[in-house]
This record gives sequence, C-alpha cells and structure tokens, in this order.
Amino acid sequence: MITRVLLLACLTVALTQEAPPVKIHLYYESLCPYSIDFVINQLYPTWTILRDIMQVELFPFGNASYEPDGEGWKFKCQHGEGECHGNMILACAKDHFKDINLEMEFVNCLLSSDYPPNAGATCAASVGADWGPLDQCVNSLEGQNLLHDVALQQEQLDPPLYFVPWIIVNDVFSEEQVAECQTDLKKVVCELYTGPPPEPCANLEPVHRPAARRVTVA
Ligand SMILES: *[C@@H]1O[C@H](CO)[C@@H](O)[C@H](O)[C@H]1NC(C)=O
Repeated sequence: MITRVLLLACLTVALTQEAPPVKIHLYYESLCPYSIDFVINQLYPTWTILRDIMQVELFPFGNASYEPDGEGWKFKCQHGEGECHGNMILACAKDHFKDINLEMEFVNCLLSSDYPPNAGATCAASVGADWGPLDQCVNSLEGQNLLHDVALQQEQLDPPLYFVPWIIVNDVFSEEQVAECQTDLKKVVCELYTGPPPEPCANLEPVHRPAARRVTVA
C-alpha cells in the first residue's frame, strides 16, 4: 500500500516535470501602444499567475533599423529617438538582470509609465535594482551592442517580423494566434500546456472558435 502511494507520488512528479512550459517570445517596442497594451494587460497579468508553466523571452527591437556608427551602432525607430532609448534600456536590463522575474517586473513598470524612455531610474528603484550600471550601459557602446544583438536575433525570425507586437508561441507564428494572445493570453497558455492544469487554468470557458459561431438569420 505504501509502495503504491509512493509510486503514484513519483508518477505525478514525473508527469509534472515532463510537461514543457509554454514558450512565449515577444518582439516589442517601448513606445508602441499595442506592445504596451499587450504587456500590461495580457503578458504581465498572465505571468503573475502562470509563470510556473511559462517560459518568456523578450526582444525589444521591433520595426527599427540600424547602421554602423563609429565603433558602435546608430538606430532608427518607428516612434522616434525616444523609442530607441527605451528599447536600449530594455535591452540593457535584459542582459544585466539575466533573470526573467526581475525583467518582467521592470518591463511592466517601464511600459506602465507615462513615458517609458524616461522611467528607467524610477523603475529600477521600484524593482530594487541599481540604476547606475543600467544608465552606464544605455549611454555607452555596451547598450548599442546589446540592442544590435537583439536586432540580429530578431532577424532570425521566419517569417520575418511585419508588425509589432510580434508574438511567437512554442516557436510557431500565426496572425490568428497573435490575435488570440492579445485577447486572452491566459487561455492560450492554459490550452497549450500539456501537464496537469494549474489552479488558475480551472473553470476556463470553452474556446469560441469563429467556425462554431451560431448564425441567426433574421
Ligand atoms: C515601420 O516604421 C516605418 C517608419 O519608421 C513606417 O513607415 C512603417 O509603416 C512601419 N512598418 C510597420 C510594418 O509597422
């Protein structure tokens, strides 16, 4: 009897561990209203309740370009210079923290602020991080190289990014899936997770696929 209980316990542990986390890769911009909306209304809230079954990585570049500039790089961003500055803060934070928990708190703070490019110091303080090294990063070749590295990673996308926010789920891109993530990311993560559903995934309403919609003819 004891053996059987132990076996069951082990099996449960094995099942829990075998289910891979749902991978969310976000390509975003610090001043893009749709990026901001997705992070503060979908990604961050979902993350706070489902982080145990999620693997998130953030790529702050988006619809921008770069060219060599001396020893470093000069950037052009869709929403102007402030956006490039904000993106660089985000790239420096990602590299310095190397901790998605801290990064998510920082990113949520920055994008929730009135003007993200100016919120670095405030948000570093609010997550208990030291702004000094980040400030130095943003104002040096280090930040330029880090942001350029993000651009190179983004260039690996297939298909290439053609709008922002660009959301990849478990390495797969589809416009429909991006729309679902922007509407209800929690549902997407819960549905794709193959392990035992965690508590926040209980009582999810069934998905309403467009094909299943009832059409009333008047
Ligand atoms: C990318 O940004 C440029 C301005 O820098 C803009 O003209 C273009 O429409 C943008 N493209 C997309 C797909 O958002």
